[in-house]
Amino acid sequence: MDNKYTLITGGTEGIGLEIAKLFAKDKHNLFIVARNRDKLEAARNFLEREYKIIVFILDIDLTVDNSCEKIYEFVDKNNLIVDNLINNAGIGSFGLFNEEKEGFEEKIIKINIISLTKLTKHFIKDMIRRGEGGILNVASTAAFVSGPKMAMYYSTKAYVLSLTESLHEEVKALGVRISCLCPGPVKTSFQEKAGVKKSEKMKKLMMSPEDVAKAAYKGFKHGKCIVIPGSKNKILVLGNKILPRALGRKLVAMSNKG
Ligand SMILES: NC(=O)c1ccc[n+]([C@@H]2O[C@H](COP(=O)([O-])OP(=O)(O)OC[C@H]3O[C@@H](n4cnc5c(N)ncnc54)[C@H](OP(=O)(O)O)[C@@H]3O)[C@@H](O)[C@H]2O)c1
Repeated sequence: MDNKYTLITGGTEGIGLEIAKLFAKDKHNLFIVARNRDKLEAARNFLEREYKIIVFILDIDLTVDNSCEKIYEFVDKNNLIVDNLINNAGIGSFGLFNEEKEGFEEKIIKINIISLTKLTKHFIKDMIRRGEGGILNVASTAAFVSGPKMAMYYSTKAYVLSLTESLHEEVKALGVRISCLCPGPVKTSFQEKAGVKKSEKMKKLMMSPEDVAKAAYKGFKHGKCIVIPGSKNKILVLGNKILPRALGRKLVAMSNKG
């Protein structure tokens, strides 16, 4: 029996679920982790029924200590080989840094940075040993600029982009591919959970999670280092590169005024 699995964090809804569908369609078995057990079971039932693949699930909170160790234990106990890792789960919060809820800084760093880094480090070693495998880390267009009123979110995504770019160079000759997905605003429940008020400009930029996942899957399969879905987002990122940093952050401050 083929024991190769694609591990997707946060694969129960939004971008993660759409990415899960694309892997499932190409007959990859899946291992999905998220917190909500009902949503995990619903995703497993749907994906197994629709695509005739095997789906393992594990309810885990990636902001909690030892969550990654529990994932490694589950993988070993069930004799899974993680041949693709999709580090998709992430959180954000809109507001002034000094007014952020006590403890949020630890949560966002744990899920957006620490878990992503630990899972990458753990599974990339096996991939390098086997000479095959792939990792897709989900950042954001926020990774390219600083983000007043969402300072921690933008900073964590800048880390994800920088880490992924460095690793891309380190492992590309070893048979392992690693890509960074950088979407702009996407129509998922993420914005609402993060308390982001959608401006008219943001609404115009919003892409569907299906289109973002398609661009991600294609870019990942082609071994692209940075995948920016949508032409408007590509232009925005290019603009950020050309503009002086001071102007870039002022523009973000203006659009995050609400
Ligand atoms: N939506 C956007 O506008 C946008 C734009 C750029 C980048 N992104 C990035 O894309 C990624 C996915 O976002 P999305 O919009 O698809 O979000 P989403 O619809 O809110 O889905 C988030 C997924 O992550 C899981 N998750 C959340 N907190 C978790 C935790 N503490 N432990 C384990 N799993 C957790 C959720 O399941 P449970 O709640 O059951 O745990 C869910 O499966 C994130 O990294 C986000 O930063 C999103």
